Parts: sequence; structure tokens; C-alpha cells
Amino acid sequence: MVHLKYLSAGGKTEFKNCEIWCAPCHFGPDGQLSKPRLLDLFCGAGGAAMGYHQAGFEVVGVDIKPQPNYPFEFHQADALTFPLDGFDAYHASPPCQAFSMAGQQWRKAGVVYPDYISAARALLIETGKPYVIENVPGAPLINPTILNGAMFGMRIRRKRLFEHNFYIPFKLIPPDAKSNFRTGRPPVQDGVFTPVGHFSGVALAQRIMQIGWMGQKELAQAIPPAYTEYIGKYLLEQIKFRGE
Ligand SMILES: C[S@@+](CC[C@H](N)C(=O)[O-])C[C@H]1O[C@@H](n2cnc3c(N)ncnc32)[C@H](O)[C@@H]1O
Repeated sequence: MVHLKYLSAGGKTEFKNCEIWCAPCHFGPDGQLSKPRLLDLFCGAGGAAMGYHQAGFEVVGVDIKPQPNYPFEFHQADALTFPLDGFDAYHASPPCQAFSMAGQQWRKAGVVYPDYISAARALLIETGKPYVIENVPGAPLINPTILNGAMFGMRIRRKRLFEHNFYIPFKLIPPDAKSNFRTGRPPVQDGVFTPVGHFSGVALAQRIMQIGWMGQKELAQAIPPAYTEYIGKYLLEQIKFRGE
């Protein structure tokens, strides 16, 4: 990887037009190091986004629906046609109904859900930059890293797969505890929570997932920021490594 080096009028050495984030290109006028930019496709209300922010990224989100609670810069657009230029890394969380347990009853009843994963993967590979695709168990992701709540000491059942084209060491995850959550009943305060569908116990889910800014519908779709903070630390290493 190269950055173009040139001498400005004052004779000061500057670096411009780096193909990917690297430290010399990212000192702002105030001398502070700016952050690498990550595009968060299919962003929802920003569970994944917050983890990348915590890992050190500047995050921009794209969703087909308005997301008034998204905590960062947001664009309402189709993720499959949004321009991908100007970012150092990408994350995509396409809808999971084509593969999820919850979608199974509807698929059996004949509902056909679009599979956005292969289309998103083709676009992300085309960028030549590091990417992550997140989805549910059963989704056709390639060599995914698997994360769950137990790995982060969270009392929640939310196993997720992460496809990535950069190095993340293989880790065995601890098994999820059995959930004592029952749909339509108040959650047991010290139990293991499954915030899916029309669950009750929003405040508890917010606390467990560390997502204070979302309502019920948004929480049901979100991943805990701890997952992408973990992924984001390896992503940051990869970006710095490429920039050297
Ligand atoms: C699983 S949710 C994302 C959750 C998010 N990663 C989080 O952690 O909060 C999937 C999102 O994809 C959005 N979506 C569906 N089709 C889309 C499309 N064609 N372009 C952009 N977003 C889309 C939905 O509106 C939904 O918010």
C-alpha cells in the first residue's frame, strides 16, 4: 500500500490520497489523528455501529427506512446502490428472515424473503477493502467468526455470525445458558433474556445489551455493541497494517 507524498508550498512534507487509512495521511489541521471511516450498511438503529465507534471508527450508516435514533451520520438509501467510495472499511447486517428461526414459520407458509448476502458480498469484495458481513446462524456466510452473549458475560441469547476478509483469531465461545424467557411474560430479572419479536422488558434488554437509545422494535433486531467492538479491534489492526 502506498500513500502519495508531496511537498507543499511551505516546504512541509504532506501525505495525500492514501488508498486506505494510514497514520501519515490522517493527521488533521489540528495535529490530531483522525479516525478511519466505516460504512455501516443495513444499519438499523445502530447496535453494530456503536461497537465500531467504541473500537475507534468514524461510522456512517445506511438503511432503507428512516432511523431517527441512529447515533451517527445517517443516509436513508438502498444499501445495494449506495456509493461505496471514501470509506476504509465496511460492515453489512442484511435482514435475516431468509435464514432465521423466527422466519421459519413464514418461509414454511410460502413467504419468500430476499437473500441480500451474496449481492452485498460481491459489492464489498469489489472495493478491495476490509469488510464484515453479520447474520444469524444458518445464514450462508463464509468461515464466520461466531460470537454470543456468554462470551461477553451478557445474560442474553443472541448468537451471531461474522464473515470477514481479515484476520481474527479463532476462539471457542462458551455455551449460551438456557433461556428462561417466555414470549408475552415479563422477563425474569436474573434470567437469560431473548429479546425477539414483541418482547416485554425493554429497560432490561437495554441494560443487558448496553443499548440505551433504542426502543423495542429496534432492540429486537440489534446486536450488542460489544460484538462489533471486539471485531472492530481486529479490523483496526488490519487497516493500520495495510497502511504501513
Ligand atoms: C438486522 S437489521 C440491522 C440491525 C443493526 N445491525 C443493529 O445492530 O442495530 C437490518 C436492517 O436492514 C434494513 N434494510 C432492509 N433492506 C434494506 C436495503 N435494501 N437497504 C438498506 N437497508 C435495508 C432494515 O430496515 C433493517 O433496519
